[in-house]
Amino acid sequence: MVGARPQFVKLAPVATALASQAQHVIVHTGQHYDDAMSDVFFRDLGIPAPDHNLEIGSGSHGAQTGRMLEALEAAFVDHQPDWVLVYGDTNSTVAAALAAVKLHLPLAHLEAGLRSFNRRMPEEHNRVLTDHAADLLLAPTDVAMDHLANEGLGHRAVLVGDVMTDVLLGVRDNVLRSQTPAPIDLEAGSYLVATLHRPDNTDDPSRLREIIHTLAQSDTPVVLLAHPRLLSLAAQHGITLAQGAIEVRDPLPYPQLVAAVMASRGVVTDSGGLQKEAFLLRVPATTIRPETEWVETVDLGWNVLANDVDAILPAISRPTPVPTDATPYGDGHAAQRVAEALLEAAA
Ligand code: UD1
Repeated sequence: MVGARPQFVKLAPVATALASQAQHVIVHTGQHYDDAMSDVFFRDLGIPAPDHNLEIGSGSHGAQTGRMLEALEAAFVDHQPDWVLVYGDTNSTVAAALAAVKLHLPLAHLEAGLRSFNRRMPEEHNRVLTDHAADLLLAPTDVAMDHLANEGLGHRAVLVGDVMTDVLLGVRDNVLRSQTPAPIDLEAGSYLVATLHRPDNTDDPSRLREIIHTLAQSDTPVVLLAHPRLLSLAAQHGITLAQGAIEVRDPLPYPQLVAAVMASRGVVTDSGGLQKEAFLLRVPATTIRPETEWVETVDLGWNVLANDVDAILPAISRPTPVPTDATPYGDGHAAQRVAEALLEAAA
């Protein structure tokens, strides 16, 4: 079960790993529906088309999650799966978790055990509720395993590694092999890639205005890959995104995003995935959040948290971090372990 952009990326290697071993039915809630937010990921990453698209679309959290719950229940009743596999921490994740457990269907949560301990984030509630409902917790890191143990869930947890790493390493190698040009018309190493979509950064007009005003003053061009949520909120609040150093672009398909980050001088983001992708590509990241679930990126020096707007410019112009060959996110074969854990537990 998937619904939002980061989940399509995680689905890709799992669909490949399951293809020859199980009947894998893909249900898409339709939380993300624009071609650039959804279909392009299926095409580029070779993911089979969803068997069902529930076409739920956008809405307030309660309405969106409620509509998904109802539609997912009907889909699960039809299929009676041996496992319902949910990914990450979006509203689609928690809706599918609830639908599954109410039907007594075994539930597996991929990317279990991540915690920000920030209860203002909708994702924190989604992931905590999903972990506590699930029968099998597929954790990406040792830190995630520790969180699950601390919450009394260690006996249901398996360390599989990070499936996004599987995809990223493959895409990176393709970019290098095919010499895919970065889709940014700026010299390599001369620009920053930025994304911004968290409610805490976008929903309060004065906060959003301050962040944009700060990024606009960067010495380095900032290529802002604008999520539809950011565009609509900026328009609503009369905030001009394209000011100063900021160049606004559409969100990129995954291979182009990876190529753009590889050729960049750094990343400025509030996305969970992009911080980690930057680390894996050894590009410095600055994260506009008070905390991160991917603490390893910070501990290893490749990610700096800059929630206070005054901390953003010093962070993006900091010296290059110390090289590391640490692999906290696994070896790029997490999806195979996910398939094994599911098949073993179903046997
Ligand atoms: C969702 C997830 C977030 C994840 C992000 C990745 C939740 C609570 N949040 O946030 O964890 O990091 O996806 O992108 O589930 N919109 C479009 N086209 C689309 C999708 C959305 O225009 O295809 C616009 C709509 O105006 C919508 C807004 O974006 O209201 C927000 O979309 P939504 O899916 O509710 O949340 P995201 O901010 O994308």
